Amino acid sequence: MSALAELCDEILTCQDCELARHRTNVVPGEGTEDANLFFIGEAPGWHEDQQGRPFVGPAGQFLDQLLASIGLRREEVYIANVIKCRPPQNREPLPEEIQACRRWLDRQIEIIQPQMIVTLGRYSLARHFPNESISKIHGKPRKLEGIIYYPMYHPAAALHQGSLRPIIEADMLKIPQILAKAKELPQEAAESQQLSLF
Ligand code: URA
Repeated sequence: MSALAELCDEILTCQDCELARHRTNVVPGEGTEDANLFFIGEAPGWHEDQQGRPFVGPAGQFLDQLLASIGLRREEVYIANVIKCRPPQNREPLPEEIQACRRWLDRQIEIIQPQMIVTLGRYSLARHFPNESISKIHGKPRKLEGIIYYPMYHPAAALHQGSLRPIIEADMLKIPQILAKAKELPQEAAESQQLSLF
């Protein structure tokens, strides 16, 4: 069994926060272990909780379209969430839930070692860049410790606010070019890194 499959099995048994009592299924994440691109969403919703798979509801259908727009299928990337269990009534995740779940995503990133992490929405952005605003930094790549971080709006945002759709589509279309020029992107200085803060 691969290291990632073993980790996902471990995640399935997690009881580290209250969300374990409410879930139907844990949603560890899915995709390929050798993914260049790692997409990080917020939390499972109703559909994801039912199926144990990330981004399988309406936001997921849009994410699939976005991936197709750059010639990718979800099997060729990795998709996971900041938290692995659905919050009741899809409420926003609590700081203690995000903290309890932190180690799982850290280990997924460590195993996969993606070239680029795409944060989808503000919770995913805040995990890496706590003091930034998505409206200011979406679509702007930055390289830290050899990984390119690329903030995007959450696909669900386009479903609520149609004007964001072309912005999200345009940000997605920039990804292949950023990956192609990854080596030329300057590294940010160590003091500006906030990776372990939330
Ligand atoms: N929204 C998310 O952030 N993640 C999912 O898996 C589904 C919807």
